[in-house]
Amino acid sequence: MADQFAGKTALVTGAGSGIGMAAALALAAEGANVVVNDLDLEAAQAVVNSILAAGGTAVGSVGDVGNAEEVKAAVDTAAAEFGGLHVAFNNAGIGGPLGLLTDIDLDGYRRVIDANLNSVFYGMYYEIPEMQKAGGGAIVNMSSILGLVGSATAVPYVTAKHGVTGMTRAAALGYAGQGIRVNSVHPGYIDTPLLENLPEEVYASLVGLHPAGRLGTAEEVAQVVLFLLSDKAAFVTGAQYAVDGAYTAQ
Ligand SMILES: NC(=O)c1ccc[n+]([C@@H]2O[C@H](COP(=O)([O-])OP(=O)(O)OC[C@H]3O[C@@H](n4cnc5c(N)ncnc54)[C@H](O)[C@@H]3O)[C@@H](O)[C@H]2O)c1
Repeated sequence: MADQFAGKTALVTGAGSGIGMAAALALAAEGANVVVNDLDLEAAQAVVNSILAAGGTAVGSVGDVGNAEEVKAAVDTAAAEFGGLHVAFNNAGIGGPLGLLTDIDLDGYRRVIDANLNSVFYGMYYEIPEMQKAGGGAIVNMSSILGLVGSATAVPYVTAKHGVTGMTRAAALGYAGQGIRVNSVHPGYIDTPLLENLPEEVYASLVGLHPAGRLGTAEEVAQVVLFLLSDKAAFVTGAQYAVDGAYTAQ
């Protein structure tokens, strides 16, 4: 086991699957104590078990990131179990309803804003005071290519992910002088359960959007997240990191 994050505690939201799971496993493999948050108890527990089986340290925290109290509970778990919090990946999110703006069901809109945008605010709201107590820290917020460019038929998602981009910049400015770095990642389409059950032709059309000629993997996104959370990125804050096979370079 490597030790880039030895002695540090990490919180990863939505860590029961996909990109969050890949980041939680990679952080643990680098020596971090990991708080594995997810809505899904079994998924969170399976990731905790994998980390423990590999000789790492982790604890589960079941909760909905769209609920401020449940996010606070995840941060409190880090403090109670491991004595503090040093790095956080606010990753959890959902796809949400598709269609032109006026076709969107209002409840679906609110669900996406809660899960993808308010969740990141709640995350930083409770994480930053713990990082201040620890003398500094690093946060990565999950945005998307759709936090940098639009899509006519994913209005709630585009709105939430652009919000994450702006919130990240504002928070980075606010805490840059206190040793707390805040960056966002912007994956292209990544092969995770979020894209499961797509018809073959839709999957092929998504591949075609990426000049790299394929979708990304959860591990490729996790490696960029680990870099941003690590001391190697000591002068990187307020930045937007695309991990998108050149999607947004077009
Ligand atoms: N897969 C992609 O193509 C892609 C591209 C860009 C950005 N993203 C973003 O990456 C993040 C992770 O996506 P993924 O592809 O790994 O998806 P995923 O569905 O594989 O994993 C998401 C995990 O988050 C959990 N989750 C969902 N809502 C939650 C909530 N309210 N509270 C706590 N946990 C919750 C789910 O139970 C699941 O385990 C999302 O924010 C997504 O918008 C994904």
